[in-house]
Amino acid sequence: MLPQRLTTFVGRNQELDQLAHLLDEARLVTLTGAGGCGKTRLALEVASLRSQTRPTQAYFVDLAPVAQGWLVAHALAAGLAVTEKPQAKLLETVCAALQSEPALIVLDNCEHLVQAAAEAAEAMLRGCPQVHIIATSREALNIAGETSFQVAPLEIRDAMRLFLQRARLSRPGMHAEFGEVAVIQELCERLDRLPLAIELAAGRLRVLPLGAVDGGMDNRLQLLSSGPRTAPGRQQSMRGSLDWSYDLLDEQERNCFRRLAVFAGGCDARAATIVCESDLDTLARLAEKSMVMVVESATGPARYRLLETVREYAAEKLAGAGQLEATRRRHLNFFLELAETAAQSIRDQALSAQALELDQDNLRAALDWAGIEHPRLEMRLAAALGWFWFVRGHLSEGTQRLTTALSRGGDHDSVRASALKWAGSLARDYAGSEAAQSLLQDSLTISREVGDEAGEADALLRLAGVLRGTGAFDSAAELFAESLSIYERLNDHFGIAVLHFHHGLLARFRGDTSNARRWLEQSETELRALGHEFFLAQALNQLGHLALERGDLQAAQARLEEALSTNARLKSNFGCAIALDGLSALASLKRRHERALRLAGAAEAVRSAVGMKMSPNYHKPLERWRAPSRKSLGAAAAVVYEEGRRLGLRDAIAYGLGERHQPTFLSRRELQIAEFVTHGLTSREIAQRLGISTRTAEGHVERLRNKLGFRSRAQVAAWMTAQLDESSISTLGDGSLGA
Ligand SMILES: Nc1ncnc2c1ncn2[C@@H]1O[C@H](COP(=O)(O)OP(=O)(O)O)[C@@H](O)[C@H]1O
Ligand SMILES: [Mg+2]
Repeated sequence: MLPQRLTTFVGRNQELDQLAHLLDEARLVTLTGAGGCGKTRLALEVASLRSQTRPTQAYFVDLAPVAQGWLVAHALAAGLAVTEKPQAKLLETVCAALQSEPALIVLDNCEHLVQAAAEAAEAMLRGCPQVHIIATSREALNIAGETSFQVAPLEIRDAMRLFLQRARLSRPGMHAEFGEVAVIQELCERLDRLPLAIELAAGRLRVLPLGAVDGGMDNRLQLLSSGPRTAPGRQQSMRGSLDWSYDLLDEQERNCFRRLAVFAGGCDARAATIVCESDLDTLARLAEKSMVMVVESATGPARYRLLETVREYAAEKLAGAGQLEATRRRHLNFFLELAETAAQSIRDQALSAQALELDQDNLRAALDWAGIEHPRLEMRLAAALGWFWFVRGHLSEGTQRLTTALSRGGDHDSVRASALKWAGSLARDYAGSEAAQSLLQDSLTISREVGDEAGEADALLRLAGVLRGTGAFDSAAELFAESLSIYERLNDHFGIAVLHFHHGLLARFRGDTSNARRWLEQSETELRALGHEFFLAQALNQLGHLALERGDLQAAQARLEEALSTNARLKSNFGCAIALDGLSALASLKRRHERALRLAGAAEAVRSAVGMKMSPNYHKPLERWRAPSRKSLGAAAAVVYEEGRRLGLRDAIAYGLGERHQPTFLSRRELQIAEFVTHGLTSREIAQRLGISTRTAEGHVERLRNKLGFRSRAQVAAWMTAQLDESSISTLGDGSLGA
């Protein structure tokens, strides 16, 4: 979970040792120092070494693109892959997720948000006893328990090694000729042995001979030092090398470089070329000169990024050139178009949401800018992003952004109706169904006023969904029908298929299984024809559960497996949970009891990670099917269930689908041992009973404890007894599908 490092790491052996010790003693170590001195790189190296030698998961959270304090929690959640839960503070959800996990978090670039970063760090240290943090910041965070560590310049030999290594990237095979060693040494000293300055200088070697690089640097630094020497020397040498690198760019390169400063969290080539009015060739030249970082990705297009120190410099130049406004405007237009296109295609492809996730910081920056300069575009952008916030579960951020945009007033038109619609959809989980109804009602009213029929049908559909959730089935049915008739009039095949799905779901809620099946099968056929996978996956889930209810195990398996793999592909976690629940019931019915309870545990873990609530009606049949499994396994039932809970989404999916690479579980023997432990047997007694050696028995107990994360066997026993007493189902609620 650490970002890939593209270049070799040089030197710093002493620092690595020191930091390893410091982290044993303090839970927060803040690396301080000027921009470009190597804080981030050192933090990453420490984290990577530590996660290789200990059972610690390392995470990287970059705060550089985060513009406002309240978004720090969102950055943490994204970096730690934690999903927001309805009606809970995001920071608390993040802390809860790491409560019992040994983790090391690199909190990079705290300087511009010291207060918010300090609060977040403090909350994590308090709430997560096994979490350690390495922060990087130009100044310390100043909280209790923090140790700050000033990152020194490289040692001269390492500085020279770094220069040579990077030089070889520009000139492969280069090695220092006799006599050049002294020049390199002098150059590195002049650059204060600052890694970033050294990399920039080495990047020039492609076009300039070493002597010219050294000479150019010399002039530049003399020029600087002839001014008032107020800034600390190191900042000046960083500045000097940036100035010099910048001056050597041609006009095209400079233009592109400056404009890249408006991106938050980097961008892909298309965004860069459009917003910077540049081309790929220029970008590539900037990358060769180490001015721009290129991060290749296995799953998407490469991303172009500026190191934070470099970005600040570029921003200064951009403002100086009087191009800030125009570039921001192009940035806003670009991301507005991206969001509006995605909002259209999301109706057909939930995958677009994943693409938007990569540009979240840019979308936030565009919203911030629009909020100041172009309120109308802010509303359009917020309305276009409603879908994204909704399907990705970014409830609080979406609500806040939409509320802000709506509060600025503006025309009563379909854009406003759409913003209200999304605010209402988010409110159902966030603020409750009353708030949701009122927002959706406003949306409906405006859509009718302006004669936006598609908007009207959509608002009706959502309003009906909220009503279904409150149990007002008759009113819900009426509104669904009204919505359907509009879609039929508009000949909107997708809308019709979705409405058939909702009719089916409502029938199922009302216990009308035959109509439920009829509607859902019709919807399935239509969605297949349209190639719309997201709703198809939800329909398959419902059909799978219905097949279980009528005892058609073969049909159930086919539907549920397809539902699971499709939901997994679309990264719809709630859909995965429902499929896993179904497959768990199926396993029970087939008398595969361990599998049944593991899948039940896995489903419950996924559900609670996304804060998904289901009605008792959802759980009742599942529990009925699982009861024989619980009974058959006895005390071990709780252990297998817990194994399932700890699987993690990826392994749970692989297990659910019966894929070849299966996670490993406790053996039968270990399960047997768990049962003995619950009954208070010692390892010796267990060994006697099973006719194995005491050491072997101890080994089994040990594995069991590790698997369950307990320190003592007493804890294991207490935990298992508690599990046996209570039903493991704790989430109750409305059970709607968030469509
Ligand atoms: N010890 C090192 N070995 C190799 N490269 C380094 C080292 N320290 C820093 N760098 C490189 O120098 C540049 C600036 O370092 P960075 O860690 O981003 O600085 P900071 O975070 O202090 O601004 C980066 O490209 C980084 O990869
Ligand atoms: Mg940094």
